[in-house]
Amino acid sequence: MTAPTSENPTVAEATLEQASVPAPTEATHPDAAIPGQDAPVAKPDAPAHEAVASEVEAGEAKPAEEAAVEPSKPAAEEAQSAPEEQPQVAEQPEVAEQPAPTQAPEPVQESKPADEPAEPELPAREAKEEKESAAASDKKSNLSFILNKPNDLSFEERPIPKLKNDHEVLVGINYTGICGSDVHYWLHGAIGHFVVKDPMVLGHESAGTIVEVGSAVKSLKVGDRVALEPGYPCRRCSNCMSGRYNLCPDMAFAATPPYDGTLTGFWAAPADFCYKLPENVSLQEGAMVEPLAVGVHLVKQGGVRPGDSVVIMGAGPVGLLCAAVARAFGASKVVSVDIVTSKLEVAKEIAATHTYVSQRVSPEENAKAIIEQCELGDGADVVIDASGAEPSIQASIHLVKNGGTYVQGGMGKPDITFPIVLACIKEITLKGSFRYSSGDYKLAVQLLGSNLVDVKKFISGVVPFKDAEKAFEKVKEGQVIKMLIAGPNETLE
Ligand SMILES: NC(=O)c1ccc[n+]([C@@H]2O[C@H](COP(=O)([O-])OP(=O)(O)OC[C@H]3O[C@@H](n4cnc5c(N)ncnc54)[C@H](O)[C@@H]3O)[C@@H](O)[C@H]2O)c1
Ligand SMILES: [Zn+2]
Ligand SMILES: [Zn+2]
Repeated sequence: MTAPTSENPTVAEATLEQASVPAPTEATHPDAAIPGQDAPVAKPDAPAHEAVASEVEAGEAKPAEEAAVEPSKPAAEEAQSAPEEQPQVAEQPEVAEQPAPTQAPEPVQESKPADEPAEPELPAREAKEEKESAAASDKKSNLSFILNKPNDLSFEERPIPKLKNDHEVLVGINYTGICGSDVHYWLHGAIGHFVVKDPMVLGHESAGTIVEVGSAVKSLKVGDRVALEPGYPCRRCSNCMSGRYNLCPDMAFAATPPYDGTLTGFWAAPADFCYKLPENVSLQEGAMVEPLAVGVHLVKQGGVRPGDSVVIMGAGPVGLLCAAVARAFGASKVVSVDIVTSKLEVAKEIAATHTYVSQRVSPEENAKAIIEQCELGDGADVVIDASGAEPSIQASIHLVKNGGTYVQGGMGKPDITFPIVLACIKEITLKGSFRYSSGDYKLAVQLLGSNLVDVKKFISGVVPFKDAEKAFEKVKEGQVIKMLIAGPNETLE
């Protein structure tokens, strides 16, 4: 089954926030910041990406892998357990700009005049399209990778979905990335109040190829390669109408119960949630657009401008992609902070200008050390948390300059001790960030197309569909940044 979609795809057009995307500034790579490589918490040989915990694709709480810091606690208590609660942000949508997706219309349209009204149901056309669709998907598999219950995965051949209205397209899935949230559902069967009650297809980070277009679709044609935006908002509520559709309370998000995900053969979706990939962007890179869009949204929330100094707490996939986007936005210093040295080595290679291994000292002391070693002067212009770890959130407030901006992206414990007075007297702008919204997917694709962000180095491996579970195991082991699974009809060389 596919995720439900709106029946009203005509709602207002998105105003794409014009995130300026200046040429990247030159990479200063001063080796400023890696003190204490052998700090107790930063085992030098710790596997990259260890302990892939959960993630929050649905506003899920992710267990923070935090360990560093907090002098007041004995070390053994420091590793915090994963809260299972759903962060409230998911339930508390809010208002804003505009709804509806993005996507510059592309001219081409097979066999449909451009000015043709979107009148449905010409029986002849329907018949023709059904035939085309059948031809396109003939003998193809809609094998789906299903989570039955925690630790119970299986494959099942499911019916190829049908277009639900004239504005939809059918996409053959080529590649899907595994997200922390997929792994969390697999292991625990729930994230917060999102509980897998019935078998659910996993996956939501996908790119594919159009095999059928609805009669009203003008922007895409059969054969186009697209990145799939996997959450479909109602398009009618105040959040949607103000452009912050990520806050829609009626969002139907792939692989968030009860909605099936995209680890399947074919996926029906509204055309305006499918973003055509530029020629120079591969389908594998296209599968990286989803997590990249998370990074785009976080960096936009931070209001990062050319010349800014940006500190990013956490060097998992989200933090690394934030670092890459911040560079693309023209930040002159991008500092990645983590407790695992090997992750910071990756960060430095692919995104950050500076790195810092968080120490077992107070958040204030870590902040001071980061400022000194990375020469941040009065503090960072923008700090983004992509760890969810309490000590790193606390350090962030000490780290940000007076009047600076702090963005919360990580979802760890739902409640923490927070230096609220400091935030007050520094007049910090504090923002949340949830998934992605108007313009983010479009910008993510543009960043790839213009080579301002290179996600190839984020892809740790690609496995055939039949080996999906092996790929999940690898992510669980934590040795990888991003694993991709080829679609069931995709042949890997
Ligand atoms: N806001 C959103 O829309 C959104 C979307 C996706 C993921 N997330 C959240 O973002 C976070 C990052 O996701 P990810 O997939 O990269 O997860 P991840 O677990 O791979 O990365 C988290 C990183 O934080 C590091 N870390 C732990 N404690 C730390 C500390 N005290 N200081 C510095 N770093 C520390 C870990 O070592 C790890 O590298 C998670 O909390 C996830 O739930 C949020
Ligand atoms: Zn994801
Ligand atoms: Zn809505």
